[in-house]
Amino acid sequence: MIITAIQKRYSCRTFNPKSIEREKVEALENILQGNTQGPFGAKLRFRLVDFKVMSKEEIRACGTYGVIRGASHFIVGAVHKGAGALEDFGYGMERNILQAQALGLCTCWLGGTFRRTGFSDRIGLRDNELLPAVAPVGYGADKRSFADRVIRFGAGSDKRKPWEVLFFDREFHALKKEAAGPYALPLECIRLGPSASNKQPWRIVQEEHLFHFYLEQTPGYAGSNGEVKLQHVDMGIAMSHFELASRELGMEGRWMFADPGMQTGSWEYVATWTAVS
Ligand SMILES: Cc1cc2nc3c(=O)[nH]c(=O)nc-3n(C[C@H](O)[C@H](O)[C@H](O)COP(=O)(O)O)c2cc1C
Repeated sequence: MIITAIQKRYSCRTFNPKSIEREKVEALENILQGNTQGPFGAKLRFRLVDFKVMSKEEIRACGTYGVIRGASHFIVGAVHKGAGALEDFGYGMERNILQAQALGLCTCWLGGTFRRTGFSDRIGLRDNELLPAVAPVGYGADKRSFADRVIRFGAGSDKRKPWEVLFFDREFHALKKEAAGPYALPLECIRLGPSASNKQPWRIVQEEHLFHFYLEQTPGYAGSNGEVKLQHVDMGIAMSHFELASRELGMEGRWMFADPGMQTGSWEYVATWTAVS
């Protein structure tokens, strides 16, 4: 179910006016409520915002600069500041997004093109929290708006980097799909993931049963909004895809945070998945 959701998900910026059924709203609210912590241990809070019960002024304060058309629900999230907070947010928010997809709903990560103040008010953002991103949720329209098409084209959203740029063996040779064995599909699920401006900054090194996750910051790409560095959020998304896909295939494991000290140049160590066979 989750692997299919990963394969089907895309950023939807043009929504159909059809409202989300009450059962689906309730299911989504339950999912958000139960999603309270990421692998680094940062506390997460998610809320579903419904424009239908808000005043015009409140809705205006939650603008998306014309990027999102027709959505009446948004998932808003907050994370307690601290080490790993942005990765945990990416991990938690992406779980919401995949569960929404599994309910037949469309979404879009928004880390830049949304008004922070309005959404911060909706969730009652506290001083010790960050609000890295929001996501509209609903039914996708048949035709994409002009803004949607321009953004997709600008980011090259239909393309992904090839395996040899993303996945490596312990000698830093390109990891062959055959060598990855049963982990080829979880790795492919990382590759299919969303990332800010589609920069795909995830780099994974396989060392037997260990998968080391690194961040290669895109040179010259700001991708940040004050304390919110979106490429760290991207890493959490990759972690969630890999873990969820592995578990769905019956391959258990856990996260470890112990830099193996490999010579990775500018890559920043994030986490290691330890597969338990
Ligand atoms: C952390 C993050 C922030 C993003 N911020 C925005 C945004 O502010 N506005 C937008 O239109 N798309 C945003 N996106 C969507 C990406 O552009 C999109 O995921 C990427 O181009 C790949 O396309 P796809 O999601 O359709 O596969 C964001 C994605 C991520 C993961």
